[in-house]
Order: sequence, then structure tokens, then C-alpha cells
Amino acid sequence: IPGHDDAAPRVLIVGSGAAGLTAALRAAADGARVTVITKSAAAHTATDRAQGGIAAMTRDLPGGQPRDTAELHVHDTLAAGAGCCDVEVVHGVVADSPEAVTALTGAGVRFDRVAGPASDWVQGLEGAHSVPRILHAGGDATGHAIQAALTARVTESAARKSITLLECMLATDLRLRDGRITGVTVRPVDANGLLGEPSDLPADHVVLATGGVGQLYPFTTNPAVATGDGIALALRAGAEVRGMEFVQFHPTALTAPGSFLISEAVRGEGAVLRNHRGERFMLRADPRAELAPRDVVARAIAAERSAEPGAGVFLDCSEIPVPDGEDRASFLARRFPTIDAALREHGIEWSRELVPVGPAAHYLMGGIATDASGRTSVPGLWAAGECAATGLHGANRLASNSLLEAVVFGQRVGRLVAQDPVPLWPVGVSTASALHDTDPAHVPPGMHGTLGIPFSRAALQATLWLGAGVVRTGAELARTQRLLEQWLAAPSSTAATGAAEAEAEAEATIGAKDSGAAARPRDERPATLAEYEDRNLLAVAREVVRASRLRTESCGA
Ligand code: SIN
Repeated sequence: IPGHDDAAPRVLIVGSGAAGLTAALRAAADGARVTVITKSAAAHTATDRAQGGIAAMTRDLPGGQPRDTAELHVHDTLAAGAGCCDVEVVHGVVADSPEAVTALTGAGVRFDRVAGPASDWVQGLEGAHSVPRILHAGGDATGHAIQAALTARVTESAARKSITLLECMLATDLRLRDGRITGVTVRPVDANGLLGEPSDLPADHVVLATGGVGQLYPFTTNPAVATGDGIALALRAGAEVRGMEFVQFHPTALTAPGSFLISEAVRGEGAVLRNHRGERFMLRADPRAELAPRDVVARAIAAERSAEPGAGVFLDCSEIPVPDGEDRASFLARRFPTIDAALREHGIEWSRELVPVGPAAHYLMGGIATDASGRTSVPGLWAAGECAATGLHGANRLASNSLLEAVVFGQRVGRLVAQDPVPLWPVGVSTASALHDTDPAHVPPGMHGTLGIPFSRAALQATLWLGAGVVRTGAELARTQRLLEQWLAAPSSTAATGAAEAEAEAEATIGAKDSGAAARPRDERPATLAEYEDRNLLAVAREVVRASRLRTESCGA
């Protein structure tokens, strides 16, 4: 790279959401030679879809929330995390939250203000927050605003050749020598999803920032790219994972194909939940009602729906308070333009009509175990954003803490990987709650597994929804594990045939849709992106189910 110090650390960042691009910009600004690779277009990320906003302690920033304190934000995060957060990490992230906001505004993000450029920020309220502290942009298009700003900065850096951006490039394996990262094997992805020939990119550091695992489930708010790739890469390289049982189901996704997210901020503005009899059932479920932590709300909705199969749950926005002189429809369109457009497309006039909602997979609290700087258990390998388990979220993430974590850890990792000489890798990455392995093949006798169902993405999603969804039982988890192990060991006859049969079963059970790709035997190199993603999903599904079986008490999500 012209103008670069050839001795500067080479940093490869896999993933282009808020965490990856923040790390890239930081590391490049600090002198590292940075390459960002992403299997799709740079802006095709979960960040881009985030609606609610970014939770931050802004009392010391101009226009911030004077009623907030670090103690309150820490308290809310710990309470939502159900006793499973790393307290030091929580304190550190909240302390760094003003700097994260400043980094984003410096990158060009314009958070919404009350009345013009120098006025106070508008601060939204979401579930389990003591005060309104959520900054948003474009009403409910916060993630899009952040993604657009960061992508623009990285694209400018790429034009100046201070960052290399490789889109449509899949990381298939991490390369290691003597237990330390030496680079990544990549394959280009063409417009039809076919994979090209592999090549190796050398690196001193690899940062995984690949997002979550929503595509494990048929109902998810995540984009199609959320297939657990980084976690699967890390697992194959021997990195530790933790908290994989903690999958957050957002309570209010539109119950229509695509599971469109209806932001918690809508409940923050005063929307309420009703069952099919019109009862506000959350008043019975929790004193905080609709603004209880999302695991509580998701379970209460699941309970309502299973009490009377076929009966729906609805979001009622008809009594949201509106400013004087504004009618409710125009207020909702102004405050939530993205949701408004989506609901109109579905023919729902939400200022007066009920919106059918239900839980959908939204966020993985667990992931690749890191320390408070983003180091994984493998020297030279870092993780940030949703694929990482930093200890911030515990068993249930507080709303809008995810963009915060992505930016804070993106900055921390970016700073450290740019250091020259390469920073030492301390032994003792905190693995206290890392997953302890069990015999994956062990399933108690007498468990009924529907062995013989052939693999397909739809069958996997249906299996996980029924067996490792919002509410889980030991028996269903055991059955699920058995089927996953069969798929993982799959001879080609089981894996690649009979997809139609499994899809029919999935559709009959829950209306799941198919991704189109069946798995190949493990030792055969996948020819398409979808096949590669299926492998990753299977590997990650196994960890979710194993970890769930080990966690025998109910806790958080
Ligand atoms: C939402 O807008 O409800 C989602 C925000 C989040 O996941 O933190």
C-alpha cells in the first residue's frame, strides 16, 4: 500500500458492520495496514437494520441527558443481564459510551435533536431503561445512518488507499502457525453465490466482526447474512465460546414473512400489547408491563400464544400520546418512518389498527469469548460486536446496548491491533464462564429424535425454533441435539437428499421457508456460499443446543 510503513501491523477485519468498520477506521488512523473483507456488500449488515438506537450515558456531552448517570446505566445493564454480566466490562463500556457517541458524530452520524442543530438530542426510552437514554437518527433508521456514515468513511479511506475493502469475499478458514494467527483463507463469491478458488491473505491480527446467528431460526429480525460465520471460523480454530445458550428473541416482530422488527421504542412511546381478547396481558406478567426486559415480554407473548393456539398477540398504538396539534398518524410516520413504510406496505394503518406481533430471533448474547479488550483465547485473533461474548450482555442484552458495544469494542480492538510491536497476548483471557465440553453424542436413552430427516436450511431452522427457541425443555433439547449430531456427521445420502421432505415438514409445522441449499458431506469443499453458510449454521447450532443443555436453570433469555 503506497505511503504505508511496510513494518506496520497487517490487520484483517472480517465483517463490515459497526464493530468491523469502527475497528478498521481506528486501526488505519493509528497506522496499521488494514483490509476489511465481507462476504456481501459492505452495507449489508445487521447494523444497517438497527432501529431503536444507541444507549449511551450522555449527561456530560452537550445536548445530553441530565437525568442519567453511569451508575444508572450500569444498574440497568446488570439487571437486564440477569446476574450473568461481567461487572467490570459493564462499567468500562458505560464509561466509554460518551467517546463512542463522539466517534460516531465525528464520522458524520447526525443523531436526532429536539429543535435544530444546537438543541438537545431526542432521547428515547426502551424496555428496562430507567431513563430515556437512547440516541436515534432518522427516527427509527439509526443503524442505517451509522452504517452509511462508517461505510462512507471506509470507502474514502479505500480511495486514499489507507484501507483495502474487499466485498463479496468469504473468509473460509483462519490460518494458524504454532497456535498463533497468521492470516485468513478467502474465496470470492460471484453474483450467483458460487465460490471461486481459495487464496491466503496474511495478517498479524485478524478481527472477527461478523455479527450474529439469526438465520438459525425461521423467524428473525436479522439479515440473510447472519449465519454465524465468525463464530464457526473461531470454533474451527479452537477458540473458546461462551454464553451460546443466550439467544435473545425480540418480542415484537411483525408476524408476516420477513419478521419485520417493530422497535421497542414504539412501546417506549406508549404502545401496549393485547391478546386476542383485547386484554393487556403484560400488566399481569410484570410490574413494568410492556417495558419489562425483552426476555420477559417475549416469554409472556409466547405463553399467550401457546395458551390458545392460533390466537394472536397485537401491538396497540392507538393511545400513544402525541404532541399538541399533531395527529397520531403523522406523529408515527415522523417518529418511525421505516416502520410506518413497512406497515403501510402490509396495509396496516397502525395509528388505529392492531399490529400482529410475535417473538423472532434477534441477537446472540454469547459468542466468541473475549477479554475486556476484545482478545480471544487464540493469540492474534480478536472479536468485536455481536459475534463476541465480551461479558457486557450477560443472559439478556439491554435494548440498544449492542451498537454501543460494537463501537466501544471496535475502538478498543482497532487501537490495540495498530500497536507496533504486536502487543503481547496475556495468558488468562477470562474464560471463567466458557463453555465446558460434553460428549456431543450423548443423548439420554428414550429421547425421541426424528432421526432420518434430511438436512436443509429450512429443516434446521424449524428444528431450532421448536427445540431451542423462546421456551426450552431438556427433552426437546436432547432431541434437537441428536438430530444436529446426525446432520453434522452426515453422510451425503442424508445431507443432500430429500430436502423437499424436510421442507414440507418445516412448513407444515411452522411455515418455515427454505434457503435453497442442502449440505454436502463435511470433507467436500462447498461450491456455494449457501452451502458454506449451512455448515457454519450447523456448527453454531450445535453450540447453542449443547450450551442450553448444560444450563439447566432458567436465566435471562
Ligand atoms: C429495537 O429497536 O427494538 C431493537 C433495539 C435493540 O435491539 O437494541
